[in-house]
Amino acid sequence: MNSKAKLSKTSNPEPWGKNVLVEFEDRIAWVTMNRPEKRNAISADLALEMSDVIDALEADERCGVLVFTGAGDSWSAGMDLRDYFRATDNAPPAERARVYRANWAWQWRRLLHYPKPTIAMVNGWCFGGAFTPLVACDLAIADEKAVFGLSEINWGIIPAGVVCKAVSKVMNQRDALYYVMTGETFTGKKAARMGLVNEAVPKSKLRKRTVQLAKTLLEKNPTVLRQAKVAFKFVSDMHWEEAADYLMAKSDQAILNDPERGREHAMQQFLDEKSFRPGLGAYRRKR
Ligand code: COA
Repeated sequence: MNSKAKLSKTSNPEPWGKNVLVEFEDRIAWVTMNRPEKRNAISADLALEMSDVIDALEADERCGVLVFTGAGDSWSAGMDLRDYFRATDNAPPAERARVYRANWAWQWRRLLHYPKPTIAMVNGWCFGGAFTPLVACDLAIADEKAVFGLSEINWGIIPAGVVCKAVSKVMNQRDALYYVMTGETFTGKKAARMGLVNEAVPKSKLRKRTVQLAKTLLEKNPTVLRQAKVAFKFVSDMHWEEAADYLMAKSDQAILNDPERGREHAMQQFLDEKSFRPGLGAYRRKR
């Protein structure tokens, strides 16, 4: 691989259209990994395009929620074995590191704490390196017949990148080690039972259920939603004292930065007007 050429930035004003497609519909940005002939294996070009796409969508007002899916019958067959592994095997260490960094940039460095809500809609095969963006997305809905696999052990490598770390965040140790060590595949239905995805639904209902979930998120106060998801992810690696202090600061930040003044309105509706009961639904947002 000529990694210098591969790592050059696209000049397209909208940085998608080749390895990544983006469509907007009612403030949902459908972000599609688009290498169906390679089962959406993640090449260096896809990684670079995806980084640019994610950056662009952060500022794009047509996008309130991102849904990541795959073209054809695959979500993603993981890292491209030819383009990422074989092609970089003999590259100088600095070049190899640069190509890997490009992938980490989008798969977790950006996605894990991305300011807008993210949903992985797993429409088919999901292998190896694809587990990292799957876990980094906030929520995940899968086709119940989608096939998942931590296949690395079957061809002599370990789930690296940060796959082991990613799965340890959402799967319990017994389940994770079982699949890391056996390389057996499992279905979307099983993935939901293990907590790797939120839900598994029949293929015919996958898009409808994903849209429904995205619309629920779009109804929420976006400032507070952003703070809540980012705070949740950061505190999981903190000690209790650190978490308490950080959450207090984050909570103040959410209140100060919220142009809708959601907390104040909710208090008013609950305490003064008696028009809102949290157990019966959301407060009336003033937008
Ligand atoms: N890297 C590079 N190329 C890949 C790939 C990957 N991870 N996964 C699939 N491809 C390529 C195949 O080499 C083939 O290319 P070709 O047409 O040039 O021969 C093409 O995609 C179609 O794959 P194929 O295996 O024929 O499709 P399938 O529908 O029969 O099977 C999979 C789909 C996903 C089950 C199978 O491709 C597979 O097992 N892929 C590897 C998954 C994996 O272990 N990934 C971990 C990487 S970290």
